[in-house]
Amino acid sequence: MVCLGNICRSPLAEGIMHQLIDTHQLNWQVASAGTNGYHTGEAPHHLSQKVAKLNGIDISHQVSKKFTTTDMDNFDIIYAMANDVLLDIKRIAGNKMNESKVKLFMQVVDGSNSDVPDPWYGAEDGYHKVFDIIKRGCEGILREYS
Ligand code: 4NP
Repeated sequence: MVCLGNICRSPLAEGIMHQLIDTHQLNWQVASAGTNGYHTGEAPHHLSQKVAKLNGIDISHQVSKKFTTTDMDNFDIIYAMANDVLLDIKRIAGNKMNESKVKLFMQVVDGSNSDVPDPWYGAEDGYHKVFDIIKRGCEGILREYS
């Protein structure tokens, strides 16, 4: 699960997916990263933590990290939260880019090539909206692969 900062959207995706994996006792690995590295080492944004907690998910232990070419090798599917993130993934991966592994997250939400809105600049309601969108997507992933 990849976004720009790995503090707002992708930590929610990691947390929601973890909960689904646990509930359905699946042998899946999930992780998240960001493409800009600006927040490396930080915990998720306090509003992502708050909204996750209100939905019964603890993401406070997560630590922001930057997406690397190794991630391209190590994971079977890489979900980009937005089109700018997808371009960044291509730039970072360089000749390790594997187009068949990388998908836009909104594809599993509504089949579109749009972006999961970035709540970073906005208020708490944006985080609630994004939580709902990401939850729908994670449930779609569960249906697709389990
Ligand atoms: P995220 O949101 O990609 O959902 O974690 C952002 C967080 C920080 C920044 C951009 C997006 N930033 O530029 O610092």
